[in-house]
Amino acid sequence: MEKLMVEGGHPLTGEVQIGGAKNSAVALIPAALLADSPVRIDNLPNISDVEVLSDLLTHIGGHVTQKGDEITIDPRGIKPMPLPNGRVKQMRASYYMMGAMLGKFKKAAIGLPGGCNLGPRPIDQHIKGFEALGAVVTNEQGSIYLRAKELVGARIYLDVVSVGATINIMLAAVKAKGKTIIENAAKEPEIIDVATLLSSMGADIKGAGTDVIRIEGKEQLKGCGHSIIPDRIEAGTYIIAAACMGTDVKIKNVIPDHLESLIAKLDEMGVNVQSDDDVIIVEKSKQITGADIKTLVHPGFPTDLQQPVTSLLVKAKGTSIITDTIYNARFKHIDELRRMGADIKVEGRSAMINGGKRLEGARVKASDLRAGAALVIAGLMANGVTEITGVHHIDRGYESLEEKLKGLGAKLWREPLSHEEQEQLKSS
Ligand code: EPU
Repeated sequence: MEKLMVEGGHPLTGEVQIGGAKNSAVALIPAALLADSPVRIDNLPNISDVEVLSDLLTHIGGHVTQKGDEITIDPRGIKPMPLPNGRVKQMRASYYMMGAMLGKFKKAAIGLPGGCNLGPRPIDQHIKGFEALGAVVTNEQGSIYLRAKELVGARIYLDVVSVGATINIMLAAVKAKGKTIIENAAKEPEIIDVATLLSSMGADIKGAGTDVIRIEGKEQLKGCGHSIIPDRIEAGTYIIAAACMGTDVKIKNVIPDHLESLIAKLDEMGVNVQSDDDVIIVEKSKQITGADIKTLVHPGFPTDLQQPVTSLLVKAKGTSIITDTIYNARFKHIDELRRMGADIKVEGRSAMINGGKRLEGARVKASDLRAGAALVIAGLMANGVTEITGVHHIDRGYESLEEKLKGLGAKLWREPLSHEEQEQLKSS
C-alpha cells in the first residue's frame, strides 16, 4: 500500500490530455457481452475499475485483449456463471453485469455491488425495471439472483432519476421482446455513449439523452467498434486544479458542452475559462470569489465535481454554500480539508465554506474517489507537503494522475505506507 505525497505551491501551466470517461467505460464493457461477435472499444481509460471488469468478463469465459487504450472483448465463450463476490464488491458499477447477463442469458447471479461509500446507494429502481421486463429477482445469502422465462418490453417509470438504473434497464431491454419505454430516464452524456455502442451493435434505441427512452428489442446483436467519449469529470477536476493554481492551462480532448454547468459557475466566480472546439483553457484569474452551488442531475452541476470544487471554494474569497442533492453523505472530504486549515461547517446536505483560507500540508485520508481528487487539489495549494492515504480510491477513476499533474508542473510522488499507517487505515 502506498500514500500520495503532494508538495504544494507549484504553479500549473501547459497541457493535459483527458482520457475516456470512466462512467461510460464501466457500462460499455458489460454491454459488449450482449454481442455475438467481438466488440472493440478505444479511448479506454487506464484505471483499476476497468481492470476489475475485464477480469470479471474473463472469469465467465470472455476473451479480453487490451493494447494501449484499446480493448477487444470476444463474448462468444461467456457462460451465465455466478460472478465472484470479491471482484463484484470492489466496485459499484459491477451492477451493470446484471442487466447485461439478464439480457443475454435471461438469468444472472451476482454479489451485492461495492464502490465509493457515499451513504445509502439503493438499487431498487434497477430491480423495478428488471421485474417490469419479466425477471424474478431474489436476494439469496447476500447475492442477487435474476431469472426470467422470457423478457418482454414494458413501460417503466423511474421514481428516482438514476444513471445506473437507466443504463441497466437499457442493457436488458435491447434483448427483450417488443417495446420498452423508460420514463424519467437520466440524461447524462454517458447514457448517450452506451446507447451509441448498443445502436452500433444493432439495437434500436431512440431518445437517449432525453427523459424518455424507447427501445425495440432485438434477438441478435453483433460486434462493432466504438470510441469512448472524454471523461467530463476528469476534465472538470483538472479545470478546477488549474483555477486554483494555474496560468494558461490547456485541457485537451474534452467536449465543452458536457461541462457547461461547471464553466458557468467558474465564470460567476471570476475564473477565466475559455473553450474552443475540444480544448478548454484556464487562464490566471485575478480574484476568485465564492459562490453557492447545488448539485443536480445532468445538465445541472455534477455531484462528482462537488468534492473537487469545494477545495476551490476554500481558496475563493467570501462565503460559499455547496449543497449535494444527489448524495446527502458525500462530505467525508470535509474533515480532511479542515485538518489542512479549511473553515467549513456541514449542516444536513450542505457545506458552508468560509473562504480565503491558506491551507497547510497535513496527513489526510481519501475516503472515496472524488474525495481523493479534492485532497490532491488542496495539496497543490497548501504550504508544505500533504500526505494522502487511501490512494486506491483515486486509482479507481483517475488515469496517470501523478504523471498528468507533473506534466503541468506539480510536484507529487508515492511512498510506501509504514506498518503503523497500514494498521491505522485498516482499522478506520
Ligand atoms: N438511487 C435510488 N435507487 C436506485 C438508484 C439510485 O434511490 O435504484 C438514488 C441514489 O441513491 C442517488 C441517486 O438516486 O441518490 C442517483 O444515483 P444514480 O443511480 O444516478 O447513481 P449511480 O448510477 O449509482 C452514477 C455514477 C456516479 C455518479 C452518479 C450520479 C457510475 C458508475 N457512477 O452512479 O459516479 O455520482 O451516477 O451522477 O456511473 C463517481 O464517478 O465518482 C461516481 C460516484
